[in-house]
Amino acid sequence: MVSRLPDLTIGVQFPFPTDVYESRMTTLGTPLSPSATRVMLLGAGELGKEVLIALQRLGVETIAVDRYEHSPGQQVAHHAHTIDMSDPEQLKALIGAVKPHLVVPEIEAIATPALEELEAAGQVRVIPTARAARLTMDREGIRRLAAETLGLPTSPYRFCDSLDALRQAIDSGIGYPCIVKPVMSSSGKGQSRIDGPEDIEAAWNYAMSGGRVSHGRIIVEGFIDFDYEITLLTVRAKGADGQIETHFCEPIGHLQKAGDYVESWQPQPMASKALLKAQEVARKVTSDLGGLGVFGVELFVKGDEVWFSEVSPRPHDTGLVTMISQWQSEFELHARAILGLPVDTTLRRPAASAVIYGGVDAKGVVYEGIDDALRIPQSDLRLFGKPESFVNRRMGVAVAYDDTVDAARERARRVAGCVKVKVADIQS
Ligand SMILES: Nc1ncnc2c1ncn2[C@@H]1O[C@H](COP(=O)(O)OP(=O)(O)O)[C@@H](O)[C@H]1O
Ligand SMILES: [Mg+2]
Repeated sequence: MVSRLPDLTIGVQFPFPTDVYESRMTTLGTPLSPSATRVMLLGAGELGKEVLIALQRLGVETIAVDRYEHSPGQQVAHHAHTIDMSDPEQLKALIGAVKPHLVVPEIEAIATPALEELEAAGQVRVIPTARAARLTMDREGIRRLAAETLGLPTSPYRFCDSLDALRQAIDSGIGYPCIVKPVMSSSGKGQSRIDGPEDIEAAWNYAMSGGRVSHGRIIVEGFIDFDYEITLLTVRAKGADGQIETHFCEPIGHLQKAGDYVESWQPQPMASKALLKAQEVARKVTSDLGGLGVFGVELFVKGDEVWFSEVSPRPHDTGLVTMISQWQSEFELHARAILGLPVDTTLRRPAASAVIYGGVDAKGVVYEGIDDALRIPQSDLRLFGKPESFVNRRMGVAVAYDDTVDAARERARRVAGCVKVKVADIQS
């Protein structure tokens, strides 16, 4: 059911007194009734869609917000709204009209200062906190917090506002190879590797074209020659005594191509020393960011050495594998944690995920080979239902389990390989 009406005539005052927040969290209500517990997702892509489904299974009333109509999460939420979430006025007006009990950012490109303002005025609860959403929306906030405030090991880095500054940063310490990324970008957009002086200008120009907003600032990072990289899903959830506890999922290994994830698996085998270090880094950064919910802590590992790379204060794309590998997926963990409920991060079995890309630029595509894909045992599939396909757009994901991670990876790749995205023949 999708309603586009702001049918928010329930008789509570805005802002809610704290006890109303608390009672709606410890006692869940009935959706579409005055007792409803209402949660608004800011960003309703494939990850948000799964969080919305998990919330609905607990009888939560859901509101999906995105910048385009018929986004995956909008298709399953009780209410759908389409706004420019980077515009503080639009964001504040919508939150003021809807009055959700919780606001859950699912993407980075949000007017986070507006969320901080509302949160400071006691008008909204942001997951995990408005400050965490602000610090992680650009690479500078989170990198300076991790490296300079918390003293966590990271790649060497500099921030630069011009091509000359970039040249100078490389010459005066960063060296080769290095990686340039716009400070405001995700999924590898505008990101490239520099192997020598001849690559610098192209990397700068590419970064300028790939940022989220026209923001002429980049980070240049020394290249870490890691053995493997992981996402350590870390959950901050309330324990029986009401105190916040930190839980870790088994590490997720993943493969990135052009800065975007193509395959992930769980558990990634790790030396125990490295795992303890990874957990310590994740605990430090997530404790500082605070609040409740799932965090995707990205780390590079070489032998026993661990470097912090970045963190999402929300479920992580590489964590899609948890839909088949864990008893509670990262989406269910997030839904439970943000509602103040108990979580269980236990692994169920080794498993893997493989991304299904669009491969074509077209609207209203069709998917062939689903029957062949699902005939492969121990597998499952998610098609996100995105209204428009792009060559490099993630349109679905295959997940599979097996006795070993390697066998699961092979199985997930086979499932994904069966699915073909085609331009629709509207005559048929
Ligand atoms: N300093 C680095 N050294 C080596 N590889 C890196 C470095 N920074 C990024 N990468 C590679 O690029 C991927 C994407 O970079 P990341 O900073 O996570 O950007 P995004 O925010 O787009 O995910 C990483 O998962 C890793 O594979
Ligand atoms: Mg990343």
